[in-house]
Amino acid sequence: MSSFYPGKVILTGEHSVVFGQPAILASLSRGVTAAIQVGQLNQEQQNDRYLQHLINIFQDFTKQKNLIFALQVNSDLPIQSGLGSSAAFAAAVLGALAEFYQHPLDREQLYQLVWEAENFVHGRSSGADPSIVVRGGLQVFKNGQVKQVTSPSLARETFFLIDSGLAVESTGEMLKKVASSPNHLEVVAQIGMLSEKIISDLERDSFDPEVFKQNQKLLEELGVVGEKAKNLIKKLQEFGATAKITGAGGLKQGSGYILAWHQDQEAFAQFLKQEKLSFFTNKFLVQSYAKN
Ligand code: PMV
Repeated sequence: MSSFYPGKVILTGEHSVVFGQPAILASLSRGVTAAIQVGQLNQEQQNDRYLQHLINIFQDFTKQKNLIFALQVNSDLPIQSGLGSSAAFAAAVLGALAEFYQHPLDREQLYQLVWEAENFVHGRSSGADPSIVVRGGLQVFKNGQVKQVTSPSLARETFFLIDSGLAVESTGEMLKKVASSPNHLEVVAQIGMLSEKIISDLERDSFDPEVFKQNQKLLEELGVVGEKAKNLIKKLQEFGATAKITGAGGLKQGSGYILAWHQDQEAFAQFLKQEKLSFFTNKFLVQSYAKN
């Protein structure tokens, strides 16, 4: 019995979404698969605090006793990179547990449980990651409310995800950094306006990649982008791309994956290879994800 949930990118609005501004999120094709069968967890899994937390969440919710099972997890989603790996892991494991123990969870229940799991990692998650991972597609998330966007303008484009290095800080630490920056409320409001612009563009079936550049500048002002990612993004932009970090960011080492767009995909891919950068491409689905 296996369960797959996809990772995500934030097109605009990370951090500002925590302050009630809208964020636009899209599902990736990559994700996490969890398979459960009769057996036992291995030693590493038994010591994994996040996994044990997920099992407790499932147990509390279903009142199921004596959970003994073997778990296999496969993922092609980079971790600590802002691509939703912890939410996708939680959704896949909880989904597989629900199937194995024949205790169906509807989408709303799964969302609530993944959100609870994410709060364990983040301190206080906006709910945006759990929402896109569980519900899929392309969505606007604001204050817990979700609107699926069905405009095909984004589905026509190819986006690049480029590794700037692991974000070693937790999302919770990055949230604290933002809260302690003196002008964060002003910057957050400006990011909110950018997201509103994308939303109205998408409603007219258009997409302006320049917003990535503008959002990146504001994320740098919030103080969540490290030097390594700043320099890399500068280089990508000099080559004609528009790019931003996606997710909470990071300062000490990398800032996770960078979301980029270039009008000449082939030339850009060639450039990234020459620069020996690790990357993958993704086309966004505009339909919500329909698998349980
Ligand atoms: O954990 P990440 O890197 O996917 O970031 C989540 C997005 C934030 O806005 C930074 C946090 C949140 O809870 O929305």
